[in-house]
Amino acid sequence: MNTTIVIGSQWGDEGKGKIIDFLSEKADYVIRFHGGNNAGHTVINSFGKFPMHLIPSGIFSKKAVGCITNGTVIDLEVLVAEIAMLEKAGIQLKDKLFISPRCHLIMPYHKILDRLYEAAKGKAATGTTGRGIGPVYADKVSYNGIRIFDLLSKKQFSEKLAIQLSVKNKIIKALGEMTLQQKDIEKTYFKLIKKIMPYVKEPYPLLQKALEKKKNLLFEGAHGVFLDNDWGTYPFVTASTVLSGGITGGSGIPAQKLTDVIGVVKAYTTRVGAGPFPTELFDEDGELLRKEGAEFGTTTGRPRRCGWFDAELIRFAAQSSGYTGVAVTKLDVLDSFEKIKICTGYTLNGKKVGYAEMDAVMLGRAKPVYKTLKGWQTPTKGITSFEKLPEKAKAYVKELEKQIGTKVSYISTGPKREEIIVR
Ligand code: IMP
Repeated sequence: MNTTIVIGSQWGDEGKGKIIDFLSEKADYVIRFHGGNNAGHTVINSFGKFPMHLIPSGIFSKKAVGCITNGTVIDLEVLVAEIAMLEKAGIQLKDKLFISPRCHLIMPYHKILDRLYEAAKGKAATGTTGRGIGPVYADKVSYNGIRIFDLLSKKQFSEKLAIQLSVKNKIIKALGEMTLQQKDIEKTYFKLIKKIMPYVKEPYPLLQKALEKKKNLLFEGAHGVFLDNDWGTYPFVTASTVLSGGITGGSGIPAQKLTDVIGVVKAYTTRVGAGPFPTELFDEDGELLRKEGAEFGTTTGRPRRCGWFDAELIRFAAQSSGYTGVAVTKLDVLDSFEKIKICTGYTLNGKKVGYAEMDAVMLGRAKPVYKTLKGWQTPTKGITSFEKLPEKAKAYVKELEKQIGTKVSYISTGPKREEIIVR
C-alpha cells in the first residue's frame, strides 16, 4: 500500500498539478482535502489542458476515484462548471467522483466580505484571490457555516441562510454595498445542488475501506506550506492547514497512515499576493524568471513575484510535514542563467535567525545569506535522466538536497507529463 501526499513547499504554484498527474497513474483514490477554488492546478495530458480548481487533478487517471473531502470549501458554481468541462472532454464522472456533504459552501456574502476586508486593510491587504476563502472558513470555525448537508433540505438551508443574512446584510449595508436577497440565493443554490447531487456521498467509509484493502491513496495538497494558516507568513496566508497533518481534520485519515510525503518546490521561488519574500528579485534576473517561467497566476492571472530558491524555507517545510522526498519543478527555467543563488539561511539585526522564530514583519526585515553557483547555460528541457543533465545542473540539484536534507526524487524539466526525471 502507498498513501502519498503531495504538498506545495513554497507559496503555491509550485507545479503540483503535474506531479500529481504523474503519480496518479498508480492511484486508486485521489483526494482534495482542504482549500477551495483559490487553488489552481494546471494539468496537461492527452485529453488537453485543464485548469483544475476543485476536482482532484488525478481524476484523469482511468482507474482513480476522485474524492472531495470535508476540509474542502466549495463554490457550487465553480464546481458545476468544472464537472461540465470534464464531461465535455469525455471524462466520465459517474461513480468516479464523491463529494462530502460536510463540505462548507462558499456563499455570495463570503465573496463580498472577502473584498470588503481587503479594502478595509488598504496597503496591508493580504492580496487574496477574492474567492471568499477567509470568510467561509471564519464562518466554519465560528459555527456559522452552511454545508452541503444543509442544502439537502430546502427548509434547513433557508432557515440557516435567513440567520446568516440577518447578520451579513447589516455589515454589507453599513459598508455601502448592495444587500443580498434570500430568494435569489435560494433559487441559484437549489438549482446548482441538483447538478452535483449525483456525486454527493460521504467519502469517509470508502477511504477507510481503501486503507484496509491496502489501496493506493493520493492526497492532493493545495497552496503551499508558507500559506498555512498557522505556520505560514500570517496574516499573508490562506485559511486552511497546508501541512501534511491537515489530512486528519480534512478527510478523517490518520496522518500516521502516510507512507510518502512529497514536497513540490520550484527550482526558484514565486509568490502571488502580498507578504514577506526574503529572496525576491527586483532586477533583470527576476524579470527573466518571470518570462522564462511564464509566471502568471492560474486562478487570477496576476504576475507572480519571483526570486531565488530559499533553502531555509524548504528545510522548515520538509521538517514540519515530514517529507520523504522532494520534487523539483521548472529546472529548465534556469537554463540561461550565468549565476544562480541559493538562500542558505537568514540574519536579522546581524544575527543568524531561523524561519520559525519570526513573524511576517521580522521575516520582511530578515536578510538572506546566499551561496552562488555557476549556471549550466545549456538546455535541459525535456531531459528524462539525471545522468543526462549538465554537470552544473546536477551540482545545483545536489546542493539543494544538501541544504534541504531530503532526497530530490523527481525533477521536472518541462510542462508535459513525460518531461520528468525519476531518481
Ligand atoms: P485566499 O486563499 O484567497 O484567501 O488568499 C490568501 C493568500 O493566499 C493570497 O496571498 C493568495 O494569493 C494566496 N493563495 C491562496 N491559494 C493559492 C494558491 O493555490 N496558489 C498561490 N497563492 C495562493
